[in-house]
Amino acid sequence: MRTNTGQIIHLEDYRPTDFVLERVDLTFELDPKETKVEARLIFHRRGGVSLAAPLVLDGDELTLTGLLLDQEEIPTALYEATPDTLTIRGLPETAPFEITVTTLLSPETNTKLMGLYRTSNVYCTQCEAEGFRRITYFPDRPDVLAAYTVNIIADKAEAPLLLSNGNYLGGADMGDGRHFAAWFDPHPKPSYLFALVAGDLGVVEDTFTTASGREVALKIYVERGKEARAAYAMDALKRSMKWDEDVFGREYDLDIFMIVAVSDFNMGAMENKGLNIFNDKYVLADPETATDADYANIEAIIAHEYFHNWTGNRITCRDWFQLCLKEGLTVYRDHEFSADMRSRAVKRIAEVRHLKSEQFPEDAGPLAHPVRPTKYREINNFYTTTVYEKGSEVTRMIATILGRDLFKKGMDLYFDRHDGQAVTIEDFIACFEDASGRDLSQFSLWYHQAGTPLVSAAGSYDLEKQTFTLLLEQTVPPTPGQTAKEPMHIPLRIGLLLEDGSEAKPSAVSGADVTGDVLHLTERKQTVVFSGIPSRPVPSFNRGFSAPINLHFEQSAHDRALIARHEADLFARWQALNAMALDNLVKAAAQARNGEPTACDDALVEGLLAAATDDRLEPAFRAQALSLPSEADIAREIGSNNDPNAIHAGRQAILAAAAAAAKDSFMRLVKEMALSGPFRPDAESAGRRALRNAALSYVVYADGRPEKAASAFGAANNMTDLSFALTLLAHRFPGAAETAAALAEFKKRFVDNALVIDKWFAIQATIPGPGTLDRVKQLMSDPLFNASNPNRVRSLIGTFAFSNLTGFNRADGEGYRFLARQILEIDPRNPQLAARLLTSMRSWRSLEEKRADHARNALQQIADAPNLSADVSDIVERTLK
Ligand code: ARG
Ligand code: ZN
Repeated sequence: MRTNTGQIIHLEDYRPTDFVLERVDLTFELDPKETKVEARLIFHRRGGVSLAAPLVLDGDELTLTGLLLDQEEIPTALYEATPDTLTIRGLPETAPFEITVTTLLSPETNTKLMGLYRTSNVYCTQCEAEGFRRITYFPDRPDVLAAYTVNIIADKAEAPLLLSNGNYLGGADMGDGRHFAAWFDPHPKPSYLFALVAGDLGVVEDTFTTASGREVALKIYVERGKEARAAYAMDALKRSMKWDEDVFGREYDLDIFMIVAVSDFNMGAMENKGLNIFNDKYVLADPETATDADYANIEAIIAHEYFHNWTGNRITCRDWFQLCLKEGLTVYRDHEFSADMRSRAVKRIAEVRHLKSEQFPEDAGPLAHPVRPTKYREINNFYTTTVYEKGSEVTRMIATILGRDLFKKGMDLYFDRHDGQAVTIEDFIACFEDASGRDLSQFSLWYHQAGTPLVSAAGSYDLEKQTFTLLLEQTVPPTPGQTAKEPMHIPLRIGLLLEDGSEAKPSAVSGADVTGDVLHLTERKQTVVFSGIPSRPVPSFNRGFSAPINLHFEQSAHDRALIARHEADLFARWQALNAMALDNLVKAAAQARNGEPTACDDALVEGLLAAATDDRLEPAFRAQALSLPSEADIAREIGSNNDPNAIHAGRQAILAAAAAAAKDSFMRLVKEMALSGPFRPDAESAGRRALRNAALSYVVYADGRPEKAASAFGAANNMTDLSFALTLLAHRFPGAAETAAALAEFKKRFVDNALVIDKWFAIQATIPGPGTLDRVKQLMSDPLFNASNPNRVRSLIGTFAFSNLTGFNRADGEGYRFLARQILEIDPRNPQLAARLLTSMRSWRSLEEKRADHARNALQQIADAPNLSADVSDIVERTLK
């Protein structure tokens, strides 16, 4: 199963390895340019495998410098080594044997950030998915599990700290300026969970006592001088460990748990056994430099990686097609954790906003793929929001269908039955079927059929019979490689509200299985009759977003307002308000495009205000109610032939009209939500800040002048308020003197803090309008721009391409051509980063014709370039197809 040649790998071709790996013993002699790696691997031939079968090991850009079989040289006729494969013949029939492989690496010039690399003078590794093969020749696949011993030798001054997975065995001074350390990880693991870190780092320490009374040492390593900024991460870690014991019954299983924060990292973080490695963006926080969103992300990602210890590490994936087995499940777990730590409804709203803005477009475009794909060219391109977020939603639906107790029973069975194994989605589903006695075969289509299902509903009320009849129809749109789709099992939570806001309790329901408020939609078309309904009900669909679907139902503003005021399910209230706003914004975009005046519905202003000023609701929820659908949300709702300028203009007009209609109420909210005392990052304080800032932005819109935003900038005593005020200034008044002054001051104040400077770049990259491209180009020559730091590249170029609809989609196509040039620049150094940036083009077909033409040409320009990585060529080809 090799991928780096660019060939397509198919799930159906899976078969176990011919040789079983028993043990791994690694020795690293670290050097920036010439690191020597000696791997001693003990194998035996699997029963029934022919004597002629060679041992084939994966490599990637490797140089072999030594090869022994049971400590003897192997004759050259018996092996063949290329940079990406090592094939050895003539191996023993049944007896175990030891292969010793020596390779030479240059961590310093490893710009792909896969395998062993250097970041700020620290050696670190990233092995998922196929990075271990950049360290040594190895059966680099997740179904090969072994215990590892790791010996690290390094210069004592350069790398006083030597870390790897598992428990520390010991170490010593070598007397020649070098020292060594040995680690042993007793838990059999696949190579993608291997990690090594060596360097000079500061540390924050704590301990955690597990439910059974074992003491675990906790250590978070960060750049020296940044220790204080790791306190919140440590707190989140301890809460995660406790939560996993309380809610999933999972205890930690080593004597030590370590996290290392590094500043050059391709993704968010990595769950290596006992030694998580993090993008420092998801570790470091203090009030002065981190926003409330940063705190929430840190809490979620610390939890996510910790939870992988059971869902991912103790039980791992048989092959990479099963990635959602660990990722979807672990995202579900971290979502539940955050819901318990914060407000469940607010967390759910944020999740759904994210799902709809990231996963829905993926599922509706050329890169759509099933949660459990059946083929790939480059596995790194499948660390997608479909595998992660839709994968989490699918897990959530299992919990919705089975109910809490049976879901828990299924999870317990999964942990029991598969501990120590590398398994498949089918194994996972079987646990829930066995625990509940329910047949989940139709449900499992959620793993196999791509595309967001569309449920269309129509209702009619019969006063005489006191019945409400719902006609429900589901379709799953065609996606690449899948034209005809089967109907899915959709668990749709639903409420029927009466005019006084109370909920109707039907005396009987026919036409569908209904448990509690969960309606099980299983047919293409279903007619469901609710009896004993005293008056015309207002249906509230998909409470809590019980299924990741698009729902089509004609509903009046009056009915939506009723739901927004009275639904018992808070998520559904937000959903109704959001739908009302979206109707209005879509209309406004069409009006702006036709040069007609835009109108803001009174019902919308009333609805927004009612939610925002309702003291019985928590401020964080009220802030969500005030924040209108984004331009991308509007574009998605329109679906095709999109003109980003019209969408932007329509949205601005609605914002301004709503602001003008209720300026005094917004001013009052700004005052009411003011906080006193020292900064606290808790959910309640964060909610007050969010509501205050949301209201402030309406006030500034009503004003049309920068003064209030400038004074908020001056008065801010934390990064949430400061960056919000700066964003308001820059986005609303890009040319104002106040904006220039604030940008300059912000830069000066945080010049030494890379994570804050990332915000400075991102805020400017998202200034609406065609002029921002020139600003982005200029910012690329700012001394603070650093093309080799992924966070910096993402903050400027990524934010521009993903989050600036009017700027990136300039009518003349310059935005696309700019991105194409950047992709071709970055690709040779860091293909993963380049491929990820390129997915910003995934919705190009939904643009109006001229922009779509420009986009296609820019994509073609990339496709035609020589020497593309497998990562980029895979994305560009699928995007163009
Ligand atoms: N398993 C990591 C997580 O927690 C993601 C690592 C992905 N890395 C990569 N190079 N594709 O989600
Ligand atoms: Zn993960």
